[in-house]
Amino acid sequence: MGEGVLIGRGSGAAAGPAEAGEPPGRRDRVAALLADAGLARRGPSLLMAGVPLAEIAEQVGTPAYVYNLDAVRERYRALDAALAGVPHRICFAVKANGNLAVLAALRDLGAGADIVSGGELARALAAGFAPERIVFSGVGKTAAELREAVRAGVGHIHVESAAELERLGAAAEDEGKRVRIGIRVNPDVTTDTHPYIATGRSGIKFGIPVDRVVEAARVALAHPGLELTTLAMHLGSQLLDPEPYVEGLERLLGLVREVRALGAPALDTLDLGGGLGIRYQDERMLDPERFAAALLPRLRESGLGVVVEPGRYLVGSAGVLLAEVLYRKHSGGKEFAVLDAGMNDLLRPSIYGAYHEVVELEARGRPPERIDLVGPVCETGDFLALDRLLPGLGPGERVAILGAGAYCFVMASNYNSRPRPPEVAVEGGRWWVARPRETVEALFRDERAAAPREGGA
Ligand code: LLP
Repeated sequence: MGEGVLIGRGSGAAAGPAEAGEPPGRRDRVAALLADAGLARRGPSLLMAGVPLAEIAEQVGTPAYVYNLDAVRERYRALDAALAGVPHRICFAVKANGNLAVLAALRDLGAGADIVSGGELARALAAGFAPERIVFSGVGKTAAELREAVRAGVGHIHVESAAELERLGAAAEDEGKRVRIGIRVNPDVTTDTHPYIATGRSGIKFGIPVDRVVEAARVALAHPGLELTTLAMHLGSQLLDPEPYVEGLERLLGLVREVRALGAPALDTLDLGGGLGIRYQDERMLDPERFAAALLPRLRESGLGVVVEPGRYLVGSAGVLLAEVLYRKHSGGKEFAVLDAGMNDLLRPSIYGAYHEVVELEARGRPPERIDLVGPVCETGDFLALDRLLPGLGPGERVAILGAGAYCFVMASNYNSRPRPPEVAVEGGRWWVARPRETVEALFRDERAAAPREGGA
């Protein structure tokens, strides 16, 4: 590893000339964000886990996602250590980042997987997760997906409605298996996050409402093919305050008492979902220590095992999207840089108004200017960063868009017939292409312009 390289939690020393001459607030923020990602400057160059990002950009082109597996591991270990006081399992939410390199790194540390579809089941199995370490959540599992999961021997299937419970019971019977299940409770807890990603309130589609849980448990307990082991919740995503978890936990513990009164010998686990929030801008992340301090006393006292399903916390800060400035424009009194990455590559700013910090790959020490960074897609909503004070960027220069490890590549699309970017994995000073750039041919290879001669499918 190169000199002066910081991996994981570093110090303000991560700020280099790129951030010099900028407003003091931004300088500190960028330093913290770089440290979160395991990024550091060596001279003007930005390095990830010892690898110059410019070298990756030269070789794979832009736009390109790059993930620091060392930083992912560091996050996993910190959460694992914080939960050491109770029997626990960390099941990574595959929806946040399904790349096999990321999955394999977490699997090797002992993580399980939290999945929401047959596709994610196949992905998790391909990455080598033992089926019994997989948790299957999701509000709309098909009969075929339930059957597949039962067949594969998935550790826990979390049901989200009475109708799904019935369908799962039938699948268990058909397969002649006894299936361990959880009931996903909608605990009706309010959280302070974007409404699109708040999932624990009453009146939204997720989970079984608190007042219907005991009835669902009664049905499950009476079914010979089902074994009720878990009560689960997932309150929402990007949560910065541990208080809603405490509130949700109290509701779950109350329900455990009620369900046990029915006789539920196998009920021994609480799944608290994911949601731990990270720093994108100036947030104070919900770090494992704060999370554990709020929850551990009650959990320990309950004697129950704990599952958590973090996605963003493990991988969000560890990824960047590399992009190049194609053009500069001045229009309507504003400055624009048109990047080669757009909303199809990274959707979060467009749909949630999400903030992702942007830094230069090669710091040039130019004075800051106010600018919009937009993409090439034919929508006004195609932007990556609006109204930012950034060091002057010229055509051909590259930037790293931070906080791009979770819910970024996985939400990428081919809109405007744009191939999805490659994904690169970095660890301990080396890197490899974990998924190549999609080819243009692949975009329409399987399409048929006309009906086949014989008719039919
Ligand atoms: N468990 C369940 C049942 C979930 O629905 C989710 C996320 C997680 C765990 C992981 O949550 P996390 O720890 O990553 O917050 N596309 C949005 C986020 C959607 C989250 C959906 N569910 C975004 O870009 O912010």
